Amino acid sequence: MQTTRRYSPMDHLLMRADEALTTIFGNPPGTGRPDPASNMDETDLDASEKKLSAALMRVNHVGEVCAQALYQAQAVTSRNDEVRRSMLQAAEEENDHLKWCAQRIDELDGHRSLLNPLWYGGAFAIGALAGLAGDRWNLGFVAETERQVVEHLEGHLQRLPVDDAKSRAVVKQMKSDEREHATMAVTAGAADLPPPFKSLMRLASKVMTRTAHYI
Ligand SMILES: [Fe+2]
Ligand SMILES: [Fe+2]
Repeated sequence: MQTTRRYSPMDHLLMRADEALTTIFGNPPGTGRPDPASNMDETDLDASEKKLSAALMRVNHVGEVCAQALYQAQAVTSRNDEVRRSMLQAAEEENDHLKWCAQRIDELDGHRSLLNPLWYGGAFAIGALAGLAGDRWNLGFVAETERQVVEHLEGHLQRLPVDDAKSRAVVKQMKSDEREHATMAVTAGAADLPPPFKSLMRLASKVMTRTAHYI
């Protein structure tokens, strides 16, 4: 006979802590899709190009740490099973992005952000608040976040060294996935967020991207 396990609040707390540690320090499972850059040859980048690519990929890695925290928090607080499933599916794809960015940072001899625990904690709190606001707003927040991420990644495609084909391949695939995440949220019934809120989100991501470029 199959039984459904009931989780205690302590179980939930430990599961969330485990997810957080895996996101920040570990190797999350993801969907198993191949890294878009894995079959590409490394190109010759000079020291300054390598440094720039590593910094941009660190920023993108931080973005994915935040995406994990947001989706995990929103899945916890969402009241709708369908929405929760979509959030968790998107989170798996964000785990692919997280791994691909980490891999690329290593190849470029860069380092991940030292502030990742802080980014994770902040994003988790924001995601939980969005989730508590109700599913339409929760989805609206996802849609707007993903739209802003698509714009941000487009900016990185302009800034990444032309010869850094590997980083570009990763960023291009991420951009395409983020656009689908936005569409998923809109299809599921996302509300359109008030413009001041969207501006606040832009400001928050600017602080994050500027800081993560260096630390
Ligand atoms: Fe992502
Ligand atoms: Fe996404």
